[in-house]
Order: sequence, then C-alpha cells, then structure tokens
Amino acid sequence: MSTGRVSGRALRGWALRGRTLRGQALRGYRRSGDNRELVLSPARACPRLTACPMFTSEDHRWMLRAIELAARGMDTTTPNPRVGCVVVRDGEMVGEGWHLRAGEPHAEVISLAHAGARARGATVYLTLEPCNHHGRTPPCTDALIEAKVARVIAAMEDPNPLVNGEGLTRLRAAGIDVRCGLLGAQAADLNPGFVSRMTRGLPWVRMKVAASLDGFTALPDGRSQWITGESAREDGHRWRARACAILTGIGTVREDDPKLTARLEGVRRQPVKVLVDSRLEVDLQARMLKGGDVLVVCSQERSDKAAELRDRGCEVLVLPDPSGKVDLPALMRTLAGRGINEVHVEAGHKLNASLLRERCVDELLAYLSVSLLGRGRPMFELEAVASIDERITLDLQSVERLGNDVRLLARVARAG
Ligand SMILES: NC(=O)c1ccc[n+]([C@@H]2O[C@H](COP(=O)([O-])OP(=O)(O)OC[C@H]3O[C@@H](n4cnc5c(N)ncnc54)[C@H](OP(=O)(O)O)[C@@H]3O)[C@@H](O)[C@H]2O)c1
Repeated sequence: MSTGRVSGRALRGWALRGRTLRGQALRGYRRSGDNRELVLSPARACPRLTACPMFTSEDHRWMLRAIELAARGMDTTTPNPRVGCVVVRDGEMVGEGWHLRAGEPHAEVISLAHAGARARGATVYLTLEPCNHHGRTPPCTDALIEAKVARVIAAMEDPNPLVNGEGLTRLRAAGIDVRCGLLGAQAADLNPGFVSRMTRGLPWVRMKVAASLDGFTALPDGRSQWITGESAREDGHRWRARACAILTGIGTVREDDPKLTARLEGVRRQPVKVLVDSRLEVDLQARMLKGGDVLVVCSQERSDKAAELRDRGCEVLVLPDPSGKVDLPALMRTLAGRGINEVHVEAGHKLNASLLRERCVDELLAYLSVSLLGRGRPMFELEAVASIDERITLDLQSVERLGNDVRLLARVARAG
C-alpha cells in the first residue's frame, strides 16, 4: 500500500474514477495535517491512460447523450450502476438505450437491438465499460462483438472486480478500436455509490439536513416541521428516491414519526428503511415500520421486542460497538455487502454527529432556510475543535436556490 499527496480538486475526480494515472486502485483517503493522502493499492499497468487518446467534439456530444440516458435509471438500477449507451453510424444516432433495472437487459443490448443491422461498423458510446461475465444477463462484450461494431468509446472502466478492464481487453482482442476516459468524471458522478461499494466495500453516504440560517434543525423541544419550504422538501424526496436505503435514528422516530418513503409521482421503487435503535425502543406503531423493507439495527437484542418486530416483517440486526451503541462503520459495511450503493441519512444531531465522527459520511446535502430560530437543536452534536485549523472542511459541489431556501451539496473526505 502506498500514499500520494494531491490537491482537493484532483482528489475529487480521482476518488470517483477509483483509479489513478499510475494505474493504482484507490482504496480511500485520509487526512494528514492540511493535506489529504490517497491510500492506494500496488500499481498495475493501465495502457489506456498512458496512450490517452484525443476525442472529437462529436465524441463529446454523443457521450453527453449517453450520460443523459444513463440518468434515466437514477432511481431504479440498484444494485447495478446507471449506464447509458448510444450507437452512432455516419454521424447519426442509430440506436440508444439505458439500463433500467437489475435482471433486465443492459444498456448495450437495448441499444444494439434498437440499431439492428445498422450497428455494423458503428461507434458505440458507453458510460461504463461493458461487462465480460455471465451475471443475471449474458456478457455485453459478446453482443458488441457479434454486432460487428467498429469502435467502442467508454467513459470509464467498470470498478467491479469481475470486470475491471477485462471487458475492454476482450473487445480489443476481437479487433474493435477501443478508447476509454471520455467524460470519465461526469460518468463516475452517475454512480458514486456503485464505485464506492466496488472500490471500498462501503456505500456512498449522503447526509441530509434542513436547518435555519443560524444552524438549527429543530426547536429546543424537538419540533422541526417545517423549517424549509415546499420546493426544498420536494427536492429532498427526489434525493430519497435515488437512494438504496434511508437511515434514521430512534430520536427522530420518537419526535417526528417519519414515514421514510420517497413520495414523488412515478416513483417505482422504495428504498430500504434503516433504523438505528440501540435498545430496540421503537414504538411498534411507528409509521416507518409499516410496509416496505425495514431493517432495525440494535446493540442488544431484547428477544420479545425483536420477535414482535420480526412478526411485523422487519429485520433485526445486532451490531454492538464497545460503548453499547450501534457499530456504525460495521453497519455501513453490512449495507454494502447487501448491494446498497447509496445511503440517504435523515437523522438528528446525535446520530449525525456519530456518523461524522466515525467517518461514515461522504456528502452533506444541506437545505438552509433563510430564517432564524434563535435557539434550538444543532445539525450535529459535535465537540468544539481546539483551533480553526482543526475544523472539518468540505468540498463544495453545488449551490442551488429552491424558493426561499438554499441547497448546498458538499463532500467530506473519509478513509476507505
Ligand atoms: N431538520 C432535519 O434535517 C432533521 C432531520 C431529522 C431529525 N431532525 C430532528 O432531530 C431531532 C432528533 O434528534 P436526535 O439526535 O434525538 O435523534 P437521532 O439522531 O435521529 O437519534 C439519536 C439516537 O440514535 C441512537 N443511536 C444508536 N447508535 C448510535 C450511535 N452509534 N451514535 C449515535 N446515536 C446512536 C441513540 O439512542 P440510544 O441512546 O438508544 O443509543 C441516540 O439517542 C428531532 O427533533 C428531529 O425533528 C431534524
């Protein structure tokens, strides 16, 4: 294992590509003073990057279209990645498609079927390297070779150890002109959870908070509905819908009794609901326990309560940490092991702080209402830092106005 020192900007792109220019796989990163250090696996040859090809403006145009198509699978492809594909011949699109759902045809197969005989000699733009193994569907490399396409341009390699460059190698061996790396960072942004799960064995954890401008998420007595306006709340449901799991704490369930569902028109899949509840204190009438997949995670199994929860169709998992609370890093590893790519956290200040302290958070989704509460509950119950230099800094990704609220998306560095 080695480390390399890089700037925050470079780190962001590399982290998502999961591989560095030296062909080393990214295992994570850790803080070292003002710098962050990449934690890398031993180097391995990466011929695609040493012979970095140039791409034309037409190539960019078609890859952007493929990325747009891939995004149509935003809420449905889990545990698979979101993938889009465009088949172009003589400057014209002759086939296109995207992966909709695990077990259903991959983007390449849908696009090739759309193109039919016109795929012969065509260029195929793919947001992710094609698979080269039998999963729930046959290898996409076979379909591309059989269709006799001339060129394949992939945005990024598939970090899945079952693929990991082999798909591109196979196409090259069949005489297809293969290039990789066009709009790779944008393509990786489609799948932060899938990349994270494949490279770190962890899901991508996005923590949502809604707060007043003076930083409070609730009144001192716990009431919090509603701090932000309608469009911010609707936007929150959009982020819930793309997640594989929504995670909360017993404090929030006690105070707010949330349903923890994605309530948007046309939503076809509900995320798994995860409750962190050390002593299994949840009220059996809690709304989040009704319907869908529910996982209650505790640190000590009270057999009567666990049995009652199981009778109601919930799964109960015991994951204690040495302090008697729930072992949060172990929970994240468990979720990744179950194919959970993205976790959406909507918890209170206590669980939020623990998740940050345990370095379980990748991204903060903060809705700030332009209002003042004066006093109340904070976003995170964190200890004060000894000096400004020790503050947790985040990389700002985007700022958006939603009615009278502002949405910030920012990334936190965490060790893999
Ligand atoms: N505005 C927003 O975005 C937003 C979102 C959600 C909630 N809220 C507000 O947050 C308030 C609730 O906050 P809260 O802090 O009481 O609830 P919470 O963070 O949702 O849940 C905290 C509880 O989780 C349990 N827990 C289990 N393992 C833990 C671990 N490793 N680390 C930390 N906690 C662990 C603890 O209970 P045990 O003692 O049993 O271990 C702890 O009391 C409510 O007022 C709610 O309205 C606001």
